[in-house]
Amino acid sequence: MVIVMGPEATADDLTSVVDVVRAAGVDAFVSKGVRRTIVGLVGDVTQLDPASLRGMRGVQDVVRVSTPYKLVSRENHPERSTVHVGGVPIGPDTVTLIAGPCAVETHQQTLEAARMAQAAGAVLLRGGAFKPRTSPYAFQGLGEKGLRILADVREETGLPIVTEVTDARDVELVASYADMLQVGTRNMQNFALLQAVGTAGRPVMLKRGMNATVEEWLMAAEYIAQRGNLDIVLCERGIRTFETATRNTLDVSAVPVAQQLSHLPVIIDPSHSGGRRELVLPLTRAAVAVGADGVIVDVHPHPEQALCDGPQALVGADLGELAQVMNDFPALLGKTTA
Ligand code: E4P
Ligand code: PEP
Repeated sequence: MVIVMGPEATADDLTSVVDVVRAAGVDAFVSKGVRRTIVGLVGDVTQLDPASLRGMRGVQDVVRVSTPYKLVSRENHPERSTVHVGGVPIGPDTVTLIAGPCAVETHQQTLEAARMAQAAGAVLLRGGAFKPRTSPYAFQGLGEKGLRILADVREETGLPIVTEVTDARDVELVASYADMLQVGTRNMQNFALLQAVGTAGRPVMLKRGMNATVEEWLMAAEYIAQRGNLDIVLCERGIRTFETATRNTLDVSAVPVAQQLSHLPVIIDPSHSGGRRELVLPLTRAAVAVGADGVIVDVHPHPEQALCDGPQALVGADLGELAQVMNDFPALLGKTTA
């Protein structure tokens, strides 16, 4: 059950509602959005009468929800949300291009990649300082040094930073540099990490687990929302299937499905799904055409020297076409480029 407080509700109204709920032995999780406050009820709600709750001051609506993800569900938040990252919108009216190196390697490489990203129309810079690698012997990222490089490059280019955090213990550190925290596919069900980013005071990009259903993905987002953070962007990045021709199978249908079930923005990562440079532009076109609210793309000035995922990075010669897709395609869907 979810209680939607009206725009006129006061802090006292909210306290009264929470007290009634807790007195019935039910947990109440308050999420304050820009326009309204939602109280998510978790537990045995049979002792609570929706009609009595609806009669309380400040309550606009009480909704019985069948979906297990309440706060991120579209059932009680019909309008699609826009998340702002360092002033850049990601939401239903725009297509936002996020680009940058897979991993931060040096200051010069990150700055060059950021300039490439800007040339293609990117308004947010991606780059990993903490890399989740299959092999313990592979490059693991520069850690805090990488975060400092990202912050310097933000200073030089004006691009806000999106960067991954892989461990709940690092959330405070990464959040002190990042404009948006990324939770990667491998950590989608790292519940301690989800809870930690839920209280970090930064927007979160939650990638879909490569083996996760859409419902599991939304339940993971619910962990973040339950801690009071509704600034979440979902990212489809390909799933594991029997197909081996691509690194992962990009599930384009997940975009409209997730958008119908959840009010959160949904973007696509064509780089980690395709896994090969020559697939990135076709998949980017597919992403925009299917209604994705943004695209996150790897670029690298010298992919042959990259310490991580070089084969999927776009190079200088690809930027014109990427820029053209970002210029031409969003308008066909009534969107603008962020
Ligand atoms: C990159 O962003 C990831 O860390 C990378 O895709 C992990 O894959 P790998 O370690 O299997 O190369
Ligand atoms: C990344 O974007 O750097 C990354 C590690 O992606 P994923 O979690 O989708 O593999």
